[in-house]
This record gives sequence, structure tokens and C-alpha cells, in this order.
Amino acid sequence: MSEKAILEFNGEQHEFPIVKGSENELGIDIKTLRAATGGLVTLDPGYKNTGSCQSGITFLNGEQGVLRYRGYSIEDLAEKADFLEVAFLLIFGELPTKEELEKFHDDIKSKSVVDDDVKKILDAFPKTAHPMGVLSSLTSALTAFNPSSVDVSSEDAMYNSVVKIMGKFPVLVAWTMRKKQGLPLDYGDNSLGYVENVLQMMFKKPNETYIHNPIITEALDKLLILHADHEQNCSTSTVRIVGSSHAGLFASLSAGISALWGPLHGGANQAVLEMLEDIKEDDGDTKKYMAKAKDKEDPFRLMGFGHRVYKNFDPRARIIKKSADQVLGQLGIDDPILDIAKGLEQEALNDNYFVKRKLYPNVDFYSGIIYRAMGIPTDMFTVMFALGRLPGWIAQWREMRLNKEPIGRPRQIYIGENLREFKTINNR
Ligand code: SDX
Repeated sequence: MSEKAILEFNGEQHEFPIVKGSENELGIDIKTLRAATGGLVTLDPGYKNTGSCQSGITFLNGEQGVLRYRGYSIEDLAEKADFLEVAFLLIFGELPTKEELEKFHDDIKSKSVVDDDVKKILDAFPKTAHPMGVLSSLTSALTAFNPSSVDVSSEDAMYNSVVKIMGKFPVLVAWTMRKKQGLPLDYGDNSLGYVENVLQMMFKKPNETYIHNPIITEALDKLLILHADHEQNCSTSTVRIVGSSHAGLFASLSAGISALWGPLHGGANQAVLEMLEDIKEDDGDTKKYMAKAKDKEDPFRLMGFGHRVYKNFDPRARIIKKSADQVLGQLGIDDPILDIAKGLEQEALNDNYFVKRKLYPNVDFYSGIIYRAMGIPTDMFTVMFALGRLPGWIAQWREMRLNKEPIGRPRQIYIGENLREFKTINNR
């Protein structure tokens, strides 16, 4: 295998080393390109062909539909681990021992109280505010209440910020939902498991004891694992580039939440449910929506389908689809939306437009059906995605800072006006 790439430009040859990853991925290291060629840069809108970093956290192979966190397959982790174990694995690189996991959880619980004054910020939002905008704002506001920016040279300071946000973020998630529902806000119950506590904070009625349903707890735990990390996706790249200016962890996470909000990214899980509802209202006319998705004049896309990297089944979609059947069956819910989703999937998988473009269901296609079965409002689906992705964002931010990566600052090719003379307003 060649150890270098050769670029011929203006009659000169320039050599660039080939970088090989632990899964044999290859990249051309172009760190010296501009200097060596007198100013050449690469151009790659959307970074479809550009690696931003070398990372040891998550590996995925889009052609084969493979996803692993720190070397463990997503199938194994979804089946055998719980979310807090996976969070520890992503952030610190190893599956925790029993003692390590207990200490991690204890430390998280000890830092989970959110300053009551944060409620004043929450009160300022109209009830119509989208929960992702609220969550992003409250997450950024945490910096004001926890001013110690992360001194990454101190492992203790880093660990302290990690357990703080792992403890406070679920409270912000629950507050964001309950505020819209006019329900009182509480701080959870430290006697519960991490995911049990999330569910109780979200759903406990002020005048009732919250009855835990292990089916729902287990289903949410699995969904959070499946969303926990996904290498250099849009929101994770945002967290890394914001953090590369040495902005604090909470500010970087707030930016990631905003990036995830978009319907082409995490916002797709909400858009899928809205699309399936529209199809249901349209007498289940999936063919009409398939035609819209293929019509280049129509901006409509089949939400929950396609992926920048997966050109095969998203392994998470397979697991979530199976879980949707199990959860709805166990809860005795017969949701026609699930049948519409399955029908749409079958049509797309047999339609040349989708087959040719290798468009398969992605993580967002079935997840909303389970969230809905849990009683989670549609506009909270992307917030649940953010809750799952939190440990991945933390892990990626931590890796970037510990690796002392330079501030992210891409170049461009200017295509605007050349130099021109200023004209005073009377001469324009
Ligand atoms: C997530 O990156 C990650 O890892 C993200 C994520 C994570 O865990 O972080 O996996 C989570 O964001 C999943 C994706 C959720 N988004 C959606 O479901 C929205 C619908 N999907 C698309 O908009 C699209 O597939 C993207 C945004 C996901 C990927 O877009 P790309 O890689 O930029 O591909 P493209 O837009 O260039 O599409 C290639 C072709 C185009 O047609 P042609 O110009 O070749 O004729 O495929 C078509 C597109 O029009 N196409 C679709 C389509 N997705 C792509 N056509 C109809 N419906 C779709 N969903």
C-alpha cells in the first residue's frame, strides 16, 4: 500500500503522507499543502471527503453498517450494557468496574442540583418555545452558575465538569418538558437509577406516586445508548470546533444542541412523526409521499431516510425497529403509525430512486414511535436525542482538549467582487 500521495501542480510534484487508522481507514495528511504549493487549499462543501481529526472514540463503517463505541459493537452494548456504563466507556475509554460505575453515579447524583435561579430563565420563555431552543439556552446558562471553566490540565476539574453536566442535563430536559405542560419542577430522586430518575422527573404528577414501568425504563435506556455517539456528525463537529477556541464545556454543548435541532440532523425524529401523521391523515397514501420525495422540484424529503455515511442499513435503525415492535407489543399499544412506517420502509427499499442512492432508514426513522408510546410529546423527541448524545459530545470535547488540538478555522475560495473604488452616496 502506498505510504504517500503525490499531487502534481504547476509542473511540480508534492508528496503528502498517508495516515492509516486502526481499522485501516486511509487519509491524506495535507497539513503542509498550502506551504508546499504556495497557497493551494482543498474545497469540500459539507466535508464529505474531509477528516477533521483522528479519534479513538467511535468507529463506523457506512458501507457495512458497522458501529462501535471504543471497540465494542453497538449490538452488544445495546443488549448487555446500560446507558451510564456506556457513558463512562465513551468518556473515559473503558467499561467501568462495578465500583467505578457506582462512584461515577454517586458523583453525578451529588452534582445534579440545578441552581433555582435557572427557573427564572425558563420562566422567560413563551410556552410555544421549541424545547431545543430552551434546552440550548439553559445549558449555556449553566456556565453562569458554574463559572469555573474547565481547566483541562487538571483531570479533577475535567471530571468535575463531566459529572456536573451528566447530573444537571436530565434536570434541564425534564424542566423543559414540564414547563410547557404547566407542571411543577423538581430535582429527581437520588435513590433511583439514572434512567429511572429521568423518567420520574419527566412524568411524575405532583399528586401521585410515579409507578416505574421496567419496559419503558429499559426501552429508554437502550434508545439513549443507541444515540450516545456517532463520530464526527454535524453536532459533534460543532461541539469540537466551539471547544477548540477553549470555550467551556457547557457553552460547547449548547452549540451542539443547536446544531442537532436541525431537521436534517437530530430534528429528523420529530419530522418523521409529523410526516407519518400527514400520511395517516392522507389515508395512508405512501405513494404520494414517495413521489414527493423523488420530485426534484419538491423540497420534501423522506425524513428518517438516508445518511451521509451509512450506505447500508443504519445498525441503530435495525435495533430500534425491533424494539418498537417489542415495546408497543408489551405495552399493548396498536399504533397505526408503526404500520405506515413499515409500509413506507418496504416501498422505499424496493424503489430504484432509493436503492440507487443507497438511502436506508436511519436512527431517526423508528425512534419517535417508541418515544410516542412512552408519552413523550413530539417536540421533545430531539431533546431525547440530545440526552442520549450528551456523553458522546462530552467524550469528543474531552479528547479534542486533551489532544491540545488547534483552534478550528477552515479556509475558503473567495468568489466575490475584486477591488473596486468607493463611491460617495451622491455618486451611486
Ligand atoms: C442524523 O451524520 C450523522 O452521523 C448523523 C446522525 C447521528 O447519529 O449523529 O446519524 C443522526 O442526523 C441522521 C440523519 C437524519 N436526517 C434525516 O433523516 C433527514 C432526511 N435525510 C436527508 O436529508 C439526507 O439523507 C441527509 C441529510 C441525512 C444526508 O444528506 P447528504 O449525505 O448530504 O446526501 P445528499 O443530500 O447529497 O443526497 C444524495 C442524493 C440526492 O439526490 P441526487 O441529487 O443525487 O439526485 O440522495 C437524495 C438527495 O436528493 N436524498 C434523498 C434523501 N436523502 C438523500 N431524497 C429523498 N429523501 C431523502 N431522505
